[in-house]
Amino acid sequence: MKDLLSIEHLARTDIRKILSEAAAMKRARGRHRTKPLAGQSWALIFSKSSTRTRVSFEVGIHELGGRPMFLSAADIQLGRGEPIKDTARVLGRMVHGAVFRTFAQADVEEFARYASIPTINALTDEEHPCQILADIFTIEEKLGSISGKVVTFIGDGACNVANSWIFAAAKLGFELRIAAPRPFQPPASLLQRAAGKVICTEDLRAAARGADVLYTDVWVSMGKEAESARRAKALAKYQINTALVKLARPGALVMHCLPAYRGKEIDEVTFEANAQTIFDQAENRLHAQKAILQWAVG
Ligand code: CP
Ligand code: NVA
Repeated sequence: MKDLLSIEHLARTDIRKILSEAAAMKRARGRHRTKPLAGQSWALIFSKSSTRTRVSFEVGIHELGGRPMFLSAADIQLGRGEPIKDTARVLGRMVHGAVFRTFAQADVEEFARYASIPTINALTDEEHPCQILADIFTIEEKLGSISGKVVTFIGDGACNVANSWIFAAAKLGFELRIAAPRPFQPPASLLQRAAGKVICTEDLRAAARGADVLYTDVWVSMGKEAESARRAKALAKYQINTALVKLARPGALVMHCLPAYRGKEIDEVTFEANAQTIFDQAENRLHAQKAILQWAVG
């Protein structure tokens, strides 16, 4: 039994195991010979909105033989103040695993500690490990090994998705460039903790030059809505558009974890020109998460 709470604490060998299983899951979709979740019920506890993560986990758990149970945090007693550790101990006695999307990373960690069932972080303010595993799977499907490649993250370089990229860079040996205004760059302490090849710069064009992947996420993450105006102003020029793509390596991938806001972090033309990659990336959430589920119960 294992938890997936962060990329920071996921061993390189486990990342590699999950990535190769993701490819096997994709090939075997619709004709899985083993059902590692047979007879199991899994709780999906979500305190924030979700399309991709929710649907891919519900479908993935079902396809592996289990029964997903979606629990909006607002509808269970958690939303009325029942402590996480009590919710965790109740669910731990009833279900076989949990997928948890919430605000504080500490809450997912506390849940895992008290529930004593496999627990998967489906996004916190600090990390989005399932996203990054699916993204790396997508990159390797299209470009081969990520090791030695250059991934340029553009926009809010201090968000959960950027953080997970930072921890992945050291573990898989690629160069990560973060193009963001200084207040939206990751803190030095986090870069030290991760100890990978990560370059932070305000120079968007320099960061894009020769990159293998241009990647972006929303400017306003869930929970940061009160900062929308300030973020729109500060991040205005940090957009993936036609001019920026021309600076990247020919054939570079343009990726977006979605949901996308056209005219903000990416323009309409560039988004649609790269829709094949972006929706392959979204589909790969399903395959990668099935690999994560199998790994977690193994
Ligand atoms: N990328 C992602 O996690 O999407 P959802 O918020 O729709 O789950
Ligand atoms: N950084 C974004 C990711 C959405 C999938 C957020 O937290 O809202």
